[in-house]
Amino acid sequence: MEESDKKKINAQKKQERHFLSINNISKILFNEILERAESFQVQGTREIKKLPLLRGKTVANLFFEPSTRTRTTFELAAKKLSADVINIDIQTSATRKGESLKDTLRTLESMQTDIFIVRHPESGAAKFIAELVGDHVSVINAGDGRHEHPTQAMVDMFTIRKNKRNFSDLIVSIVGDVNHSRVARSEIHALKLVGTKEIRVVGPKTLIPDQIEKLGVRAFFSLDEGLKDADVIIALRLQRERMQSALLPSEKEYYRCFGLTQERLKLAKKDAIVMHPGPINRGIEIESSVADGAQSVILEQVSNGITVRMAVMAILSALKYQK
Ligand code: CP
Repeated sequence: MEESDKKKINAQKKQERHFLSINNISKILFNEILERAESFQVQGTREIKKLPLLRGKTVANLFFEPSTRTRTTFELAAKKLSADVINIDIQTSATRKGESLKDTLRTLESMQTDIFIVRHPESGAAKFIAELVGDHVSVINAGDGRHEHPTQAMVDMFTIRKNKRNFSDLIVSIVGDVNHSRVARSEIHALKLVGTKEIRVVGPKTLIPDQIEKLGVRAFFSLDEGLKDADVIIALRLQRERMQSALLPSEKEYYRCFGLTQERLKLAKKDAIVMHPGPINRGIEIESSVADGAQSVILEQVSNGITVRMAVMAILSALKYQK
């Protein structure tokens, strides 16, 4: 690589101390995360699986909402990079005694925390926290309200790339509750960045945002039409916790019209892959035999979560080191 290119990359990286959104990510950083994740995956097959890249650093998992996949893969990823990890249980923390978010952050910062992994029910919470912390601290958005879930999008792009050739040949159908999904929003930004041939969102009118086409996607209100010739299907959970009013007649009716069944999967390309960020609700958005079937890469997504999150933390940490 030319010296001038290296300088350009480093200048861009310095602006990207936090990882809050896919919307504003540079293609250089995006590609670097995928390449780094690939190399960590190779490392994972070797006898010595731990790397010293975050030795002496502290990573704090700050989750104000439940999580299985994101929290645990961040923890494993940080440990594989030799970091110390603290998991803050919000239910038993001092926030329950009235401590403000700002004071909780100050307290954790004074314990020399280097990276905060933040999940919060409010959109914009990760950005808000990033503005509060000191210069030596990085914030990674692990899902904020219905806004974004950037590392999930990186995991999914990594998984698609492992299973398919070129994004420019692919039809990707995102199916279900797009309206309340931070994953869908981040996926759309990421799929656009990599030049996906066609991005579709598929679901009932009540769960597809108005004017979504402005994001460069095609909206389908019939599952059969939305699945036709798809190469990648990303099924989404009904986000009941974010629905303000009754948007669906019943879960049974939803499954009848929008459940991804074996029969419907036949409408997609023969070699289509089925994805789901999890948690999955069997018999609501997806048939069990599809979730566990030969075309499903759902558990591969979970495993890839470790290496992709290792890549994000390693790169952010290296940036700070350069300062
Ligand atoms: N995909 C995802 O965010 O899952 P969790 O809620 O289990 O972290």
